[in-house]
Amino acid sequence: MPAAKKPGNAKPKKFNGEVYYPAEDVLARANLRDWEKTARRADKDFVGFWEQEATQLEWFKPWKKTLDDGKAPFYKWFVGGKLNIVHNCIERHLETPRKNKLALIWESEDGKQDRSFSFHALNREVSRMASIIHALGVKKGDRVTIYMGRIPEIIFAMLACAKIGAVHSVVFGGFSVPALRGRVQDSESKLVITCDGGYQNGKLIELKRITDEAVAQCPGVENVLVVRRTGHAVPFQPGRDHWYHEMLESPVAKDRFPTQPMDAEDPLFILYTSGSTGRPKAILHTHGGYMVGTYTTLKYVFDIKDEDRYWCAADPGWITGHSYIVYGPLLNGATSFLYEGGPTFPNPGRWWQLIERYGITILYTAPTAVRGLMRFGEDWPEQYDLSSLRLLGSVGEPINPEAWRWYYRVIGKGKTPIMDTWWQTETGMFMITPTPVVPLKPGSGTRPFFGQRAEILDETGKPVKDGDEGYLVLTRPWPSMLRTIYGDAELYKRQYWSKYPGKYMTGDSARRDEDGYYWIIGRVDDVINVSGHRLGTAEIESALITHPAVAESAAIGLPHEVKGQAVHCFVLLKPEHSASEQLAEELRQHVATVIGGIARPEEVAFVDKLPKTRSGKIMRRVLKARAQGLPEGDLSTLED
Ligand code: PRX
Repeated sequence: MPAAKKPGNAKPKKFNGEVYYPAEDVLARANLRDWEKTARRADKDFVGFWEQEATQLEWFKPWKKTLDDGKAPFYKWFVGGKLNIVHNCIERHLETPRKNKLALIWESEDGKQDRSFSFHALNREVSRMASIIHALGVKKGDRVTIYMGRIPEIIFAMLACAKIGAVHSVVFGGFSVPALRGRVQDSESKLVITCDGGYQNGKLIELKRITDEAVAQCPGVENVLVVRRTGHAVPFQPGRDHWYHEMLESPVAKDRFPTQPMDAEDPLFILYTSGSTGRPKAILHTHGGYMVGTYTTLKYVFDIKDEDRYWCAADPGWITGHSYIVYGPLLNGATSFLYEGGPTFPNPGRWWQLIERYGITILYTAPTAVRGLMRFGEDWPEQYDLSSLRLLGSVGEPINPEAWRWYYRVIGKGKTPIMDTWWQTETGMFMITPTPVVPLKPGSGTRPFFGQRAEILDETGKPVKDGDEGYLVLTRPWPSMLRTIYGDAELYKRQYWSKYPGKYMTGDSARRDEDGYYWIIGRVDDVINVSGHRLGTAEIESALITHPAVAESAAIGLPHEVKGQAVHCFVLLKPEHSASEQLAEELRQHVATVIGGIARPEEVAFVDKLPKTRSGKIMRRVLKARAQGLPEGDLSTLED
């Protein structure tokens, strides 16, 4: 398809390759028209840039120092400031005409129910939940695990924690018993908030039963708060378990409840993510910096306006949901849509139907969803009126140009710029991203966000030539950066700041083209990106080893048409076991049972030997090359 070659910037610069310049109407209505000027200003004084953004939000007490880098990499932002992110998400709007504007619209998977909440109503819901968890003994600084489906109460629960100063730890509702148990134990949560069940593709997910099994080995959990969603019978443990709807009827539930003033650097949440070693790590974010980062990035990148109906189709259980379903949109006073189900149930037209029904103006999703829907052809989107859309977004993995063009042409009708946002659980906010006024190249996240700098380095720390692949690092602190790994500050330093001292190691490889555009290639560590979700090879291998037939195993990621990458495992069996298709299937199911459906291996292959270094480390690189028939590279360290 020919690119829309319509230079629109005040001083149009000619970019190389397949370029989509912003159309005149996009430029005309953009909140921020002059990208270059803002970028130059922010680059010159990034601390000043963030300071100015922060003043647009409300602080109970102003900060004394915007950035304290004295103990780097333990950076602090807005030092001395007092605030609460929930005050800015909700209460701030109650003094404005937004009070009666819709904050949240929700629709159930079966399409039979919808619920919506104005900012005024959201304040009441969050206050009630906050008063209830407070009555259950949760205090400032306590951790609360949230394990729920995509229903409004998951958002109330997160905000209720933040309102009283508790630290939420949301565990994606697709994780299994051991994965949930590990996270509850590691965070030492005293309360778990869950649902009786949830729905996924018409099937009932037994959230309460999974919680029961997980919590049975978590002596620190004093209470389990259960939101009724499905109404099916679930076991109940008197004393420990509490129905949310019953507590709402009790005198402890309050329509108004005080918002705890927090220090800017007080923790807001932890969120577990996979790294290269061992178990998932809890990434810690704080009230002040995270608020400023998510507010600012969403405002400029998705160009939020009061009349928008914004839909981020992620799950609140991932960072995308935290930053851009919950906090970012509410901080901007936006109307946000939350959908309980997935993209293809009961048919592949479901998302397009919802866009028409609710007049969605901005859709933010992952390449895997685009590729998945693309397979069903253009007839499905064609049946619906998608003309309300004005911006599209992509996140989680590199978007292949073919999917980009389909998304642009079939969904966006060639008029909606696509914001390909590169960022991570650790960064909290978009780091490499366009805004609507930036010329786009399919597959590139364009350039670093205002005030950011990124470099691409070789093994020795020298910048590579433009066009060459290298390690992507970030060289300036940003307000919503992770502050530490909860409970392991040493690992925080080692994992992110030790390879190139003073520079943040992203774990990704990338290249930069002659226009300064960044192209993300993928992870360079032992992380597999399945449908935009991070899985550690170590996690999968530890799951396999708990099966009685497995002596040793190795997991790698291989390209997959829809998922981006899929998990492939190599297994060495114990002598008394023999390979069979049935055992392979049993092992695939075993991984899904230990971690969750997203980790289910595509394939399990039985081998007699795994390629190892002389020091005994599995050379996954060799397995990967072999599986794809690619050159195996340097084998000098191979054991034999
Ligand atoms: O490899 C990059 C990929 O996802 C990783 C971060 O995963 P997670 O912490 O789960 O957060 C995902 C949602 C922010 C990155 O290291 N990634 C994320 N966004 C993009 C991407 N790769 C290419 N393009 C993107 N837009």
